[in-house]
Amino acid sequence: MIRFDNVVKRFDGREVLAGVSFTVEKGEVLALVGPSGTGKSVTLKHLVGLLTPTAGSVWLEDVEISAARGKALEAVRARIGYLFQSGALLGWLTVGENVALPLRERTNLSDEEIDGRVADALSAVDLADAADRYPSEISGGMQKRAGLARVLVRRCDIVLYDEPTTGLDPVTATTINRLIRKLNKERGVTSIVVTHDLQSAFLFADRILMLKNGHVVEDSKPAEFVRSSNPDVREFLAAQFIMPDLLEKKL
Ligand SMILES: Nc1ncnc2c1ncn2[C@@H]1O[C@H](COP(=O)(O)OP(=O)(O)O)[C@@H](O)[C@H]1O
Ligand SMILES: [Mg+2]
Repeated sequence: MIRFDNVVKRFDGREVLAGVSFTVEKGEVLALVGPSGTGKSVTLKHLVGLLTPTAGSVWLEDVEISAARGKALEAVRARIGYLFQSGALLGWLTVGENVALPLRERTNLSDEEIDGRVADALSAVDLADAADRYPSEISGGMQKRAGLARVLVRRCDIVLYDEPTTGLDPVTATTINRLIRKLNKERGVTSIVVTHDLQSAFLFADRILMLKNGHVVEDSKPAEFVRSSNPDVREFLAAQFIMPDLLEKKL
């Protein structure tokens, strides 16, 4: 349902994506991994029209996102939840007000409906008790979870997560990784998750796609990914101290 077709992206002549092609089926969770600065965030931004390809195209079903403007682009954006890498909350609004914001700005839902959805989203990330606190009064991990609630509250059928667990303690990270999988299982949410953390990717992803130097160097199921003979993959696994033999028992 999501398709990158030979996407090239250059900034002032500097090539970041050098012909990237892949698809994500409806209901699938794709982990997008690779060294930092390799174009993972740039890839995600193409899906909501924040960036447009220098060449190639990006599709959501039969809509060419890379060519969509105005109302057509708004319609695409309405379907896609996006947890930005720097998903800052507004400091002058409470956590609950921050989470309600996308509904107030984008929908005509009644106050009761909004309150209900906000309560649902906050409890999904274990923040039911923090609704009335201000961002400066909660920890970094809680802020990150509140940012996630602000995405979930929209109930999109596609969610993009840009490094959702970076900088979080392992317990909070695990909560978020489980939640990604749960949303997918229970609501059929299609997801792309940019992550440095391969261990997590093995737990929630149906497929792992690795980018390096602007190219897709591997696109396979977790069990195949760990066994890949591709030197880039082997190096990436080794850098994270992943022992394929041990991991295979878990997969
Ligand atoms: N808007 C932009 N203008 C110019 N260069 C950019 C822009 N966005 C990203 N880049 C460059 O593209 C490269 C890939 O960035 P990014 O996708 O953020 O990497 P990552 O894989 O770590 O998410 C980096 O070198 C970054 O500096
Ligand atoms: Mg990034």
